[in-house]
Amino acid sequence: MTNPFFGRDIISIRDVDRSQFELLFSFANELESSSYSKKKDIASGKILGTMFFEPSTRTRLSFEAAMLSIGGGQVGVQDPKTSSIEKGENLADTIRTMDCYVDVLVIRHPMEGAARFAAEIASKPVINAGTGSEEHPTQAMLDLYTIIKESGAIDGMKIGIIGDLKYGRAVHSLLYALARYKPKVYLISPASLSLRKEVIRDLEPTLSLSEHGTLEDVIEELDVLYVTRIQKERIPDPQEYEQLRGSYVVDSKILEKAKSNAIILHPLPRTSEIMPEVDKTKNARYFKQPYWGKLIRSALLGLILNDEINTKF
Ligand code: NCD
Repeated sequence: MTNPFFGRDIISIRDVDRSQFELLFSFANELESSSYSKKKDIASGKILGTMFFEPSTRTRLSFEAAMLSIGGGQVGVQDPKTSSIEKGENLADTIRTMDCYVDVLVIRHPMEGAARFAAEIASKPVINAGTGSEEHPTQAMLDLYTIIKESGAIDGMKIGIIGDLKYGRAVHSLLYALARYKPKVYLISPASLSLRKEVIRDLEPTLSLSEHGTLEDVIEELDVLYVTRIQKERIPDPQEYEQLRGSYVVDSKILEKAKSNAIILHPLPRTSEIMPEVDKTKNARYFKQPYWGKLIRSALLGLILNDEINTKF
């Protein structure tokens, strides 16, 4: 079988179709059940380069751990202040330099378009690890995979997405990824954080969407509740953030109304939108998501780096 990920940039989740998701997920399943000695051939002698111009815990660490788990190595810029960017070097020159050292690049940047810019400059594959409010494609891959692993399917599921639908890049990529399947999606947010009209127009032909002001209106119906934090750093007016803070919260009281097998996801970090009391409920799966995330990123790196992946398994 040809491998559609080989040598490819991953900039937007809109470039990934359902059959490609299915290939990625089945390869992740294979990786989970194989030993390290078998896995390490996949990236042996290969180097991952990470360039993070915004804070990250899970995305950077899971890319690094993923690369190590398939036998590769990694180098990275975690803090632009300790690189030549601090001396005035521009982004293009930093990318050109990293491109000489590594086999695949991962970039996170506050500006929309930065990953595509990097892909135009680099000769090696570039993976978008989050650009502005725009997209976070590998988060969407791990979110879909988590739903399948924890709930069994995506088609036919009732999925609520609550929080900052306007500035959240994880939300945007997740919605475009869900549009490859047949779920029913409930958008839940304060009015000023609702999904932008142009995104709704884009999605409507392929995804069943409805908008709601409060979780109470829909909680009883949901199979999956995907919670997001307000993107404080992207809201232009600090006063607006203060007004919105605490405007929605998932606590054990609201969960009393949820289906007993509903699952709760969150890309993390959380701030105050999920109460700690929810962590110990059987519905909480947001600390399982990073586990599936590392596996998905291992599978993605493996597929990007190897044309003939099947011969290794
Ligand atoms: C998300 C991001 O960076 O967009 N975090 C992550 O990668 N897990 C979500 C967020 O920061 O709210």
